[in-house]
Amino acid sequence: MAAGFRALPLPIVQLSLAAVLKCGQSFRWSVFPLPSEAATPDPGSPTHEYRFCLRDRLVCLRQSPDTLFYRSVFPQSPIAISATQEALQEAETLAWLRDYFQLDVDLVKLYDDWSMRDPVFMKLRDRFSGIRMLRQDPWENLVSFICSSNNNISRITQMANTLCKHYSPPLVSLPPPGSTESESYYPFPPPSSLAAPEVGSALRKLAFGYRGPFIQRTAEMLVNAHASENPQGGREAAELWLMTLREMETSAAREELLKFIGVGRKVADCVLLMSIDKREVIPVDTHVHQIAIKHYGLRGSSTAKANMTPKLYDEVNTKLGNIWGDYAGWAHSVLFTADLKSFSSYGLPSPSPSTPLAHTPKLLKIAVTMPLTPPLTASPSLASKKRSRRTMVQEVVNDLPVLVDSAGEGVSLGGDSSLADRVKKRRRLVTAAYTANEAL
Ligand SMILES: *[C@@H]1O[C@H](CO)[C@@H](O)[C@H](O)[C@H]1NC(C)=O
Repeated sequence: MAAGFRALPLPIVQLSLAAVLKCGQSFRWSVFPLPSEAATPDPGSPTHEYRFCLRDRLVCLRQSPDTLFYRSVFPQSPIAISATQEALQEAETLAWLRDYFQLDVDLVKLYDDWSMRDPVFMKLRDRFSGIRMLRQDPWENLVSFICSSNNNISRITQMANTLCKHYSPPLVSLPPPGSTESESYYPFPPPSSLAAPEVGSALRKLAFGYRGPFIQRTAEMLVNAHASENPQGGREAAELWLMTLREMETSAAREELLKFIGVGRKVADCVLLMSIDKREVIPVDTHVHQIAIKHYGLRGSSTAKANMTPKLYDEVNTKLGNIWGDYAGWAHSVLFTADLKSFSSYGLPSPSPSTPLAHTPKLLKIAVTMPLTPPLTASPSLASKKRSRRTMVQEVVNDLPVLVDSAGEGVSLGGDSSLADRVKKRRRLVTAAYTANEAL
């Protein structure tokens, strides 16, 4: 293992970084492919490094099928720290990881439960395993989702990074893996850094559009309301107050969030689900509405785009909430991810001459390490694995036109080839792979 990393045993079915950090929850993780050191890399070794800048440290992660590797990088201090201090810092990072990824929640148990309740989920569970809800910082989450209105993942990502670069000083410098050129990392700016009146127009100039003034006014409201309180542990009073919404009832917390500028029901619900611990909340947009129509029998047109009225919003919520139960918001995020264009080939076998689709455990392991194509993991026996894999590939191919055609406003990423082309190509690849396989 690379120097400085510590290991936390964690099966990839509990957490898939490749999915969770890129599916529209958080927009600030950097991803770097790792240069492979050996000519034939160990199929179980990590392929990517993920980095996230906190207020006081940069957290770096790597993942293998059964282990999460982590380390933290601090600003250079002129005084060498003691071994005790270092151990304390590492313990803090581990505590942050457990909290941020909500590792106390057994995701496999939830997947089992949703599969029993929902045949649609059952079909997707193996392909989209390891997708859990992050427990984000409420302030960053709020600002990111004010940016999310009429926007897409790549542009929200740009905005989040722009905010950090313009309104936070750089914290640490570190070259990407395999490189010598240092890159600077910036923490997310606190409310006080975005509250000054001129920030609104400055953000407009930085291509935030109408969202610029919304962010500034929300920051200003928060700072004014909590100016008399004392900051604690490196956090401003306004940030701490946002965290107290976690102790409130869902509807009371939602009312508080709706008071901010640029926050409607959808944005408020995203924040409730992603940073305020309201795991039952399902944020509804046109994509989720379409999913409810196509897969869960909600009445409505799957071609005409409906206006999202409060009544319709509630209908979608009730329908999906009844199906998925207490953790409905978490289940929704798995379905939402499956619907993203950027995930259209996620979890599918990737046949190629060097890695033919095969049914041996060893070759399955290779699939584990491929970027954005985790393995099919659930079936116990090899024979049933073979069978279920075949059925699933077939189902997935059949489902693609349905599951991938989200378009229009909201979060969606487009590939360059048309959907029909991609489906055709996928079908050819899958057929070729199975033909090659039968010959083995
Ligand atoms: C995201 O939105 C921007 C601005 O509307 C657009 O230019 C860009 O092509 C979109 N990107 C993707 C990947 O859809």
